Amino acid sequence: MKRRIVSVMVVALLLAAFGGMAVRAQDMMMACPEGEANIVIAAGAVGVEFELVQEQADRYMAMCPNITIRLLETPDLATDRLGLYQQFWEAQTGDVDIYQTDVIWAGIIAEHVVDLNDYAPEGYFDQFFPAMVAGQNIDGRQVAVPWFTDAAGLYYRTDLLEKYGFDAPPATWDELTEMAQVIQDGERAAGNSEFFGFVWQGNAYEGLTCDAHEWLVSETGETFISPTGEVNVNNPEFVAALERAAGWVGTISPTGVTTYGEEASRAVWQAGNAAFMRNWPYAYGLGNSADSAVAGLFDYAPLPMGAASAAACLGGWQLAVSRYSANPEAAASVALFLASYEEQKLRALSPQGANPTIPALYDDPDLIEANPLFARMGPILATAYPRPSGITAARYNDASVIFFSGVHSVLTGSTDAQTAVEDMELDLQDLLEDMGI
Ligand code: GLC
Repeated sequence: MKRRIVSVMVVALLLAAFGGMAVRAQDMMMACPEGEANIVIAAGAVGVEFELVQEQADRYMAMCPNITIRLLETPDLATDRLGLYQQFWEAQTGDVDIYQTDVIWAGIIAEHVVDLNDYAPEGYFDQFFPAMVAGQNIDGRQVAVPWFTDAAGLYYRTDLLEKYGFDAPPATWDELTEMAQVIQDGERAAGNSEFFGFVWQGNAYEGLTCDAHEWLVSETGETFISPTGEVNVNNPEFVAALERAAGWVGTISPTGVTTYGEEASRAVWQAGNAAFMRNWPYAYGLGNSADSAVAGLFDYAPLPMGAASAAACLGGWQLAVSRYSANPEAAASVALFLASYEEQKLRALSPQGANPTIPALYDDPDLIEANPLFARMGPILATAYPRPSGITAARYNDASVIFFSGVHSVLTGSTDAQTAVEDMELDLQDLLEDMGI
């Protein structure tokens, strides 16, 4: 045991000496767990995040050779990932020890995960943004550790804006619609028949909840269920926003956008076939990678404004330790290591550009200089607005399914926008009533 504590400290000091990085007291206090254990992490694979966690796991195993970590690749679409997790939880299986969990799932995961306060070194959670820690605290139990945060923005092609005489990215959704059409018409006339004005996430899943939440908040200032439990979908502003989005499908956006998740939009964008893309920060570094057709040809800005404001969906992922794990102590040690200062720094410096959940990292000169994404994130994060997962807690996914299914039916033309918002309103009200709200 003693030997392992020393080896953790040696690795930390070596990192400090050779990487020029500050070692945090909290990281120094982390010790290897006793005994041998196999730990399985259910991890995402959007962009290069799977490779990134593998590198992190390798670092942990080099430090603590008594622990073997294996990664389980999970579906890209958040809703599918939750469905998979729910199967594990229903079976109360210890096959997975650590889950990568969405920021909106705190109330959903609570009964299936351990309280990380029981495992974290003293003061460990003090280094994180307090609101993010609080968001993952359910009835005094720390159900997950915030790993990276997300707020979506607008990617735009700087070369094409210049070519078509636009001097700034679109300030409003209507401007976006017009600019996308002009650029698409021009690029198609120039011979690229596969070119589209705007790509985004239109599949029926959590990603569409995010996109439509942005249209709604930007027009009305409020999301689909207010923090006090009022349903906010049946209003002319949202009907108009839905009609506008439905109008994009098959015009400035591919018809297939109603099946797109994040990665499908990024594929079109990164091949050079879109003027604008709504996506998360992870697409920034990847878009500037050597294999990208748009490297150096784009920038990233806050999403366009509606009548009320600009609004970015507030996202992000955490790590939670299963209550059904045979080795919760070892699993917690791994999870807390993965989310520690130095590890978050390495993740932020990678092409995935994961946004840290530790405020001090935003002042870390190594990071600001090395990754231009972070200079762009301030204004985008300033527009971030949470989904209604606090009030709906364990029923958040039910609320989101009602919302994205209704929106999807408008996008595919199976329901008109007014009927869809009336149906959504009734279903959301029923759900809240069922919850006693
Ligand atoms: C991103 C966000 C997450 C959100 C998901 C929707 O991964 O970080 O919070 O739920 O996108 O697709």
